Amino acid sequence: MLREVTEYFILNNFSVSVIGRDIQKLNYFTDKFPGKKTIDLISQDYCDTESFIKAVDTNIKLHGIFDIVISWLHSNANNSLLQLIDVLAKYNSKTIFYHIKGSASSSLAQTKSNLFNNKLDYREISLGFKIENNSSRWLTNTEISNGIIDAYMSKKTKYVVGQIEPTDRRP
Ligand SMILES: NC(=O)c1ccc[n+]([C@@H]2O[C@H](COP(=O)([O-])OP(=O)(O)OC[C@H]3O[C@@H](n4cnc5c(N)ncnc54)[C@H](OP(=O)(O)O)[C@@H]3O)[C@@H](O)[C@H]2O)c1
Repeated sequence: MLREVTEYFILNNFSVSVIGRDIQKLNYFTDKFPGKKTIDLISQDYCDTESFIKAVDTNIKLHGIFDIVISWLHSNANNSLLQLIDVLAKYNSKTIFYHIKGSASSSLAQTKSNLFNNKLDYREISLGFKIENNSSRWLTNTEISNGIIDAYMSKKTKYVVGQIEPTDRRP
């Protein structure tokens, strides 16, 4: 779902690190952009908190601290999310941290927002839905990616892609 966001940053000559489990899927980026030397693929399960944090830490030591992090972690990895914030903050509190929240975002992620904000340049992007022809549907991957790029360009600290209300119109 964040593939096109990743491509946006690659095409804009950012040095980009991508985390996912399946190296075949990750290879998509180096296959598509063979001329770009700044794509780092990290095959890692973010639910394995210890290995995940170690992988991030190693990446920072190799390439330097991230200017921007775009984070989409499922709610079963809240511990990894909190530790990710801590390891980033240890290096630099100026990292812009985009926390992508799905429609079923966990309460833990919501209540910890203030804590995040003290440590990093914390920004939230909520993924909503669309109402078209009086029926509602979830966002497409392209709409999600474009929304995240718009959020980045706008520099807003809170951004909603699509709409999150009225809640009784959720698909
Ligand atoms: N409000 C909305 O409209 C809304 C909100 C959320 C999602 N959605 C939709 O729901 C669909 C499914 O979303 P999704 O997030 O489940 O799947 P997804 O879009 O396929 O994204 C999951 C990504 O995270 C990686 N990933 C997943 N679990 C991981 C783990 N434990 N460790 C490391 N990387 C992991 C996956 O790569 P690997 O498999 O290689 O690990 C993949 O790159 C999306 O395509 C989107 O359209 C809509």
